[in-house]
Amino acid sequence: MNSINVGLLGIGTVGCGTWTVLSRNAAEITRRAGRPIRITAVADRDTARAQSIVGDAARVTADAFELVRDPSIDIIIELIGGYGIAKDLVLAAIENGKHVVTANKALLAVHGKEIFAAAQAKGVTVAFEAAVAGGIPIIKALREGLSANKIDWVAGIINGTTNFILSEMRDKGLPFAEVLAEAQRLGYAEADPTFDIEGIDAAHKATIMSAIAFGIPMQFDKAYIEGITRLEAIDIKYAEQLGYRIKLLGIAKRREHGIELRVHPTLIPSKRLIANVEGAMNAVLVQGDAVGATLYYGKGAGAEPTASAVIADLVDLTRLYSANAEHRVPHLAFQADQLVDLSILPIEEVQTAYYLRMRVEDKTGVLADITSILAEGNISIDAMLQKEPDEGESQTDIVLLTHVAIEGQVNAAIKRIETLGTVLGTVTKIRLEELN
Ligand code: HSE
Repeated sequence: MNSINVGLLGIGTVGCGTWTVLSRNAAEITRRAGRPIRITAVADRDTARAQSIVGDAARVTADAFELVRDPSIDIIIELIGGYGIAKDLVLAAIENGKHVVTANKALLAVHGKEIFAAAQAKGVTVAFEAAVAGGIPIIKALREGLSANKIDWVAGIINGTTNFILSEMRDKGLPFAEVLAEAQRLGYAEADPTFDIEGIDAAHKATIMSAIAFGIPMQFDKAYIEGITRLEAIDIKYAEQLGYRIKLLGIAKRREHGIELRVHPTLIPSKRLIANVEGAMNAVLVQGDAVGATLYYGKGAGAEPTASAVIADLVDLTRLYSANAEHRVPHLAFQADQLVDLSILPIEEVQTAYYLRMRVEDKTGVLADITSILAEGNISIDAMLQKEPDEGESQTDIVLLTHVAIEGQVNAAIKRIETLGTVLGTVTKIRLEELN
């Protein structure tokens, strides 16, 4: 049978991994796909390096636009990243009737609506398993494996860099800045780690998962995003004493009148499997009404784990190559005319539990004042930790865990607590999810 010809845009870490795995496992992949899949052309700015990787097996060009117009190419793999030229190239590939495989989470989370509409109009598919959680087949699971379910929520550790940093902070009791510097020295964190540590990368991935889980358009601009830069080692320690670990979670949750879409540091019970996902590993927990909780775990980045997802998409596209467009699996799991415009709820309307830490004067009545403010705000306390003041100290830390409450009411109560003369400085608030 004729081979499927693939054009690869960008032969960096993941591109190189894709080339290697596709060559190494060619026989096995052909048996699965039903015909050979060959990368016949590569576009990369560094043509000499690209040529040294592919040898004579593929042609190399610096002109990616020439490649997306090449009539001999069936599928384009976009591994350039970002919203700039990658967007123009993906749209040009679609315009030229080519299927696209991309690992570009930023592009899909921000411009997904436009890209999927263009693909739909042209009858081609844009596949993106590699865009979320690297090698974990979470897109496939959400879009196909769980399609009997009404998905209640998705919560994931979907950024390896921040999970590595949080694991190190907990293990070694070190402050954020020190661990970040070490992670950069070891090459775990990018020279500019902003997208990772500020939660933006995780929010791109959570946005994509929310669209597939609930059949809504991508709405990255409505996501609430809080990274780990302000997290203090002391809170990791107190959380541990209370039976919790702090993870950066991407959460998409169905509520009656909308969807919660948020990324922030979150306390989760230490006994949950997902709380024990350490280092740069990723994991996604999905709660469906029929199946219950399901957990997906694996490497969220790296050359071959991400190539694994890219090639799975290539195999899917190859199998479906001759199927009519209307018989294909829809891009966002739901049929294109069945997407609903459920709004993303503002963070003030989010309902979750909270960890509150405050520095107080160790005086009679301090706790009573704090708890009565919480009670007036309808906020119920679940657990409490109070440290003995150190020798000669008149101040101490109080840590409170609340039951589920409305964020706006918690914020109002915190404001009132911060005005008490016996409470020093600001209250540290970290959201808490039982994930049960
Ligand atoms: N920078 C990401 C991470 C991997 O640290 O998980 C690519 O999405």
